[in-house]
Amino acid sequence: MSTFTIDTSTSRATPTPVPGKRMTAPSIRARKIEGKTEQPIVMLTAYTMRMAQLLDPHCDMLLVGDSLGQVIYGLPSTIPVTMDMMCAHGAAVVRGSWHSLVAVDMPFGSYEGSPEQAFASASRIMKETGCAAVKLEGGEVMAPTIAFLTHRGIPVIGHVGLTPQAVNTLGGYGARGREQREAEKILADAKAVDDAGAFSIVVEGVLEDIATQVSKNVSAPVIGIGASAECDGQVLVIDDMLGMFERTPRFVKRYDDLAARIGEAAGTYAEEVRARTFPTPDQTYRPKP
Ligand code: KIV
Repeated sequence: MSTFTIDTSTSRATPTPVPGKRMTAPSIRARKIEGKTEQPIVMLTAYTMRMAQLLDPHCDMLLVGDSLGQVIYGLPSTIPVTMDMMCAHGAAVVRGSWHSLVAVDMPFGSYEGSPEQAFASASRIMKETGCAAVKLEGGEVMAPTIAFLTHRGIPVIGHVGLTPQAVNTLGGYGARGREQREAEKILADAKAVDDAGAFSIVVEGVLEDIATQVSKNVSAPVIGIGASAECDGQVLVIDDMLGMFERTPRFVKRYDDLAARIGEAAGTYAEEVRARTFPTPDQTYRPKP
């Protein structure tokens, strides 16, 4: 084997791994002790290598969410998202991180058919991306599948409440649990997913009191989105919290206004190109003296 390797990485990539230990499913699970999580779990979505590098030092978990359908690909929902998309972006996020646990969403149609179908899809995702966990949507009905996967070495994050892949049966993206029957169902779903062995559970778009009840009644850490500050952790879609879109859901806090700042930078660049004031001598190659 050669002792000399040409570094073919581009100047922008930073492939050097930073020594350290990644968070694991058991280490995340162990953050909740006797129903309490001392230090809330920090999770954000990431879809690209560079964003993963920037978020990784601040997070416990990075989620390669199927929200990439809308955020990256401009699709109308998560329904058309494919395994190929999830694997490509999952691998990029794993390459850009060294500390956070990376979880990849199982896309619609890749797991609902049977536990065996779910195992085939989840194992492909893990082999092709190097991620440490998958996330799938659904409560009581998915519990046997979650048990099947966890018993076969695949850590699973559950997802209950507003489950966007079910938008066609739910009829929209409104908050769930306004009726007593639905509130009870969300709690039962969370308990079933917990009993099935999910090491963490995302609770999305539910009335605050339901999220609090869920957090109190399951043993796995509950990660809220549009849920409650009482959850064991929080997750947001990165492009929402950075202010990349004009419209954001009510539960999103915008921590920046990146869309406006990118627009300004692109506008200044366009002006300078048109005025021939870019590039300047600083950005041009000249013969060496
Ligand atoms: O796809 C996604 O980004 C998600 C989060 C909103 C939890 O599932």
